[in-house]
Order: sequence, then C-alpha cells, then structure tokens
Amino acid sequence: MVKPVVSVLFCCLGNICRSPTAHGVFESKVTELGMASRIYTDSCGTGGWHVGEPPDSRATNAARQRGYDLSSLRARQVQADDFQRFDYILAMDHQNLQDLTAMCPGNYTGRLSLFLSFAEGAREEEVPDPYYGGAHGFSHVLDLVEAASDGLLREIARAHPAR
Ligand code: 4NP
Repeated sequence: MVKPVVSVLFCCLGNICRSPTAHGVFESKVTELGMASRIYTDSCGTGGWHVGEPPDSRATNAARQRGYDLSSLRARQVQADDFQRFDYILAMDHQNLQDLTAMCPGNYTGRLSLFLSFAEGAREEEVPDPYYGGAHGFSHVLDLVEAASDGLLREIARAHPAR
C-alpha cells in the first residue's frame, strides 16, 4: 500500500519572516525523523509585496544559529488552489487566519487554523510579527515555531499513521 502524503502550508503576511522560519524548522524536523517522503512542506504570505524574495536576513541568520537553513526558500503569495493542495494550512496570527478564512472554499476538507494551536502548553496564540523589531523577536519566533512543529508532528503521526 502506498503511504499517504500529508501536505502542510505555513502562512504569514509577507512570507519572509515567520512562515519561512516555520517552513525551514518543520521541514528539518521532518527530515530528521525520516518522514520527508510522507510530509510535503511549503509556505506563503497573504500579501504579495515580497514575492520571489529570499527570507529576511535576520530570519535566516537567527535560524542558522539553531542549525536551520532557510537560504533556498523564496516568497510566494497564497493562491486559490492551495485549498485543494494542502491538508493543513496554518496561520501565524489572527489576521492571517481571517484573510485565509475569507478565501477558503466551503468544501475545504483540510484543517485551517492557527499554527500555535499545536504548541502544547503555549500561552500565546499568535507568532508575533518580528519585522519591525529587533533580533530578540526572531529568536522568539524560533522558540514558538519549534514548539508548535513538535506538536504538529505528533498530530500528524496520530491522524495519518504510516501503513
Ligand atoms: P512576515 O513579516 O509576515 O512574518 O513575513 C513581515 C514581512 C514584511 C512585512 C510585514 C511583515 N511588510 O510589511 O513588508
């Protein structure tokens, strides 16, 4: 039997800070667990200002300090067919979730939610936008994204067991 492929799309506003960080961290954990052939990861932004750009250098540097490589990622904007292609569409903040919900077809069968809903014990609901702040914001994004990625991997293992 062919093993199911689970697809995960991370979404923020610009796709240059938070969602590429989530993309790189989650994909690295998936690869470490030997699940790269079962879980497909991507990221996007609700806005189109940075389409085609690599992640913000502050995000790339903060990620590199923890061993994650974001350098090959390029920003793209969410598109209508993402709701056909992805089992999980995970928003970084309430505004992203509201914008995605407005685009989401009524028959979407996947899960559209806040990414931090998977972070067990998290006190925050949103990954705060670090774009206009200092370096600490990027390290805080990594803390939240690492915790939520671990929770999401547990959820996928439970909901989509390998056959
Ligand atoms: P992101 O951060 O949504 O985490 O990628 C931002 C990046 C760019 C802008 C805002 C937030 N911007 O206004 O250009």
